[in-house]
Amino acid sequence: MKLIKNIGCLAGIVPDGVLRKCGDEMSHVETLENAWLLIKDGRIADFGTGKEPAADEAIDAQGGNVIPGFCDSHTHIVYAGSRDGEFLDKINGLSYEEIAARGGGILNSADLLHKTTEDELYRQSMVRVKEMMDKGTVAMEIKSGYGLNPQDELKMLRVIKRIKETVPAAVKSTFLGAHAIGRGYSHDAYVQAVIDMIPAAAEYADFIDVFCDEGFFTVEDTDRILTAAEHLLTPKIHANELAVSGGVQVGVKHGALSVDHLERTTDAEIQALKGTWTMPTMLPGSSFFLGLPYGRAKDFIAAGLPLALASDYNPGSSPCGDMRFVMAQGCIKMRLTPHQAFNAVTINSAYAMGVSAEYGSITRGKKAALILTNPGWNLTKLAYQYQTPFIRQVIISAS
Ligand code: NIG
Ligand code: FE
Repeated sequence: MKLIKNIGCLAGIVPDGVLRKCGDEMSHVETLENAWLLIKDGRIADFGTGKEPAADEAIDAQGGNVIPGFCDSHTHIVYAGSRDGEFLDKINGLSYEEIAARGGGILNSADLLHKTTEDELYRQSMVRVKEMMDKGTVAMEIKSGYGLNPQDELKMLRVIKRIKETVPAAVKSTFLGAHAIGRGYSHDAYVQAVIDMIPAAAEYADFIDVFCDEGFFTVEDTDRILTAAEHLLTPKIHANELAVSGGVQVGVKHGALSVDHLERTTDAEIQALKGTWTMPTMLPGSSFFLGLPYGRAKDFIAAGLPLALASDYNPGSSPCGDMRFVMAQGCIKMRLTPHQAFNAVTINSAYAMGVSAEYGSITRGKKAALILTNPGWNLTKLAYQYQTPFIRQVIISAS
């Protein structure tokens, strides 16, 4: 049993059984001042104010805050090498689509990954996993999608599995064979190849994703792939990054757990999401890095929808996995309140990868996956003074 005492503010308390926050609920963050929190067997056993319970070990928070660790429901952190060469192309004015059309982009990463051994891929990816955990991420989703042939896609999924088995953070795995057309395939042959990969991928992955967007996979391709994956893998879709793609609607049709990106949306997408269990997820890091519009976060919330934010950490459109920066971008660029942005990077992003029964809030029985802050911080300051170090300790799997 471990006790955290002298907590200035315990923030992000959510009643048991609440798995996501929608609409107005996103504006509220429940807190307890001058609190303590008790951890037993890696879970939140109890919390409160006043007289502290006895424990074998105590951490003195010295007035710092305790918040749930960040949950990052959309990443591509298993990749080989770097795409810093393309960064110069981008600076010189080429768009994401133009870089991809010249054989750069995702295919460049696929070539690098093909040449990299599985051990080395694991080693390089773990550097990023550690970086994310140091910045307070306690649960993350990781996608394949730089293999683009059966052997290399499975190589990626095995590396994700190995990460899952090694790190204390929760890891969810997504099969994104349909990320780009693999080299040497025609469009149709590759869609069929992805369909053929599904049974083997389902041995490793929790979810399936399709990059349903202009120049990549069509609504029809997506529909075929998700139909083939029915009963095997729950969808999470890349939609509406480069164009209003129809990806939201086809995702909803197939019961997607989340539809992600949404830089470009019309009211039709908002309508399509109403009354569904699908979590709209926006990735402000991609808007920032690629100069795309920011998603209409406030309109989604005003329509009563939930909203998650994630990093999209990847070498092409968002080379950053800092969820605190994502939260700040939510506030600065999408005009979310710090409370809305906080809910979007904790409980709702946990929901978007199916782990919100265990992560994303201060709730008795949930995993004690927490951030202990230095004294003097609050949620507003965290987003406002967005680069100053605020973490004293990330607590995961404490006994
Ligand atoms: O989410 N949009 C598609 N996939 C990634 C980018 C992948 C890459 O460029 O390597 C994304 O932005
Ligand atoms: Fe992505």
